[in-house]
Amino acid sequence: MIELRSDVKSRPSAGMRAAMASAEVGDSHMGEDPTVVELERRGAVLLGQDEALFLPSATLANQIALRILSRPGDEVLGEESQHIFISEQGGPAVHSGLVCRGLPGQHGKISAAQVRAAVRPDRPHYYPRTRIVALETTHNSAGGAVWQLHELAPVVEAARELGLALHLDGSRMLNAAVALGVPAADLGGPFDTVTLCLSKGLGCPLGALLAGSAELMAEARRLMHLFGGALRQAGIVAAAGLYALDHNVTRLADDHVRARRLAEALAAAGLAVDPARSETNFVQVDVGPLGLTGAEAIRRLAAAGVGLTGTIRPTVLRAVTHLDVSDDDIDRAAVLMPQALGVRG
Ligand SMILES: Cc1ncc(COP(=O)(O)O)c(C=O)c1O
Repeated sequence: MIELRSDVKSRPSAGMRAAMASAEVGDSHMGEDPTVVELERRGAVLLGQDEALFLPSATLANQIALRILSRPGDEVLGEESQHIFISEQGGPAVHSGLVCRGLPGQHGKISAAQVRAAVRPDRPHYYPRTRIVALETTHNSAGGAVWQLHELAPVVEAARELGLALHLDGSRMLNAAVALGVPAADLGGPFDTVTLCLSKGLGCPLGALLAGSAELMAEARRLMHLFGGALRQAGIVAAAGLYALDHNVTRLADDHVRARRLAEALAAAGLAVDPARSETNFVQVDVGPLGLTGAEAIRRLAAAGVGLTGTIRPTVLRAVTHLDVSDDDIDRAAVLMPQALGVRG
C-alpha cells in the first residue's frame, strides 16, 4: 500500500528508535526528565516563546491553550473548518465552556476585517465576551494551505488592538516555515500560545508541544495534570522529538516537492487537481467530475494499492506525503490513481 492517507501514518525510523532506546529519563511530571526538559527548552526557542510543554497530543495542546486563555462563556473566533472547531469532539465547549464562532475563510484563512466585524459590541449583560482568535497553519481542511507572513500580521494586529488572545494551531507549522523559508519563531512568536505536533511530518510516534509565556505555561502545566496528560518517564518519547528536530525538519521540503509532483501528474492525467493549491504536503483530488462518490473512489484506490482519505468536502479526497513516501511511491501513485479512477494515466 502506498500510504498517502495522512502524515500521522509515518513511523519512527531506525535512527529515531535508537535515540529513544538510549534516552536518559526521569520523572517528567516532577521536572526530573532531562530529555523532556531539553525538548521543552528547544521547543520554546523554535516556536518563538518563553517556555514549552511536552504533551501526548496536539489535540490536548490545543484544548489546554484555549482553556488557559479564556473563561467559560467566552467566545473563540476562527476559520470555520479549522481542526479545533470540527475535529476535536467539541472540546472547546466541553473543556472550556467556549462558544465557537466559525468565520468563512479563503483557503483556511480569515481577514483582519472579518475579525473586527465579528467582535461583539460591548453589551456584557447580553453577549458572550469575544476572547480568543485561533488560527491554523498549515491548514488541514484547506489542503495544507500556508498563511503568508503578510496575511498573518494584520490579523494579529487586529486581535491585539481588540484585546483578544491569540492561539496558533501550528500542528504542521514546520511545514509552513519550510515552505515560506522563514524561522518557525517568526510564525509562532506573535501568538500567546502555539501548538506543534511531533507525530505528523516530523515522524515521531506521538507527542506535541505547547508553547507560550512562562506565566501561561505554568497554568498549562497545572491543566496538563487536570486533563490526565502529565507523563512520567516521557523522555523515551521526547527523545524522538529531539531526533526529529535534528533530522526531520529541513527534509519536509522533500515532502512538499513530492506532493507538488503528484499533483501535477494527476492534473496532467485529467483529474480535477489544482497543483498550485499543493503548497505543502497535501494534494486534494475532486472525484465529483468523474461521477464517483468519495467512498467509492477511496475503495477503488485502496484496491489498486493507494491509500487516500476523504475531506470535509464529500467528493474531495486527499493524498498526504510524509517521510515514508518515496519518489518511487509518487511515480507509481501517479500511474495507479488515474487508472483506478477510470481516467487515462
Ligand atoms: C491541524 C491539526 N490540529 C490538531 C490535530 C490533532 O493532532 P493529534 O492527533 O496529535 O491530537 C491535527 C491532526 O490531524 C491537525 O491536523
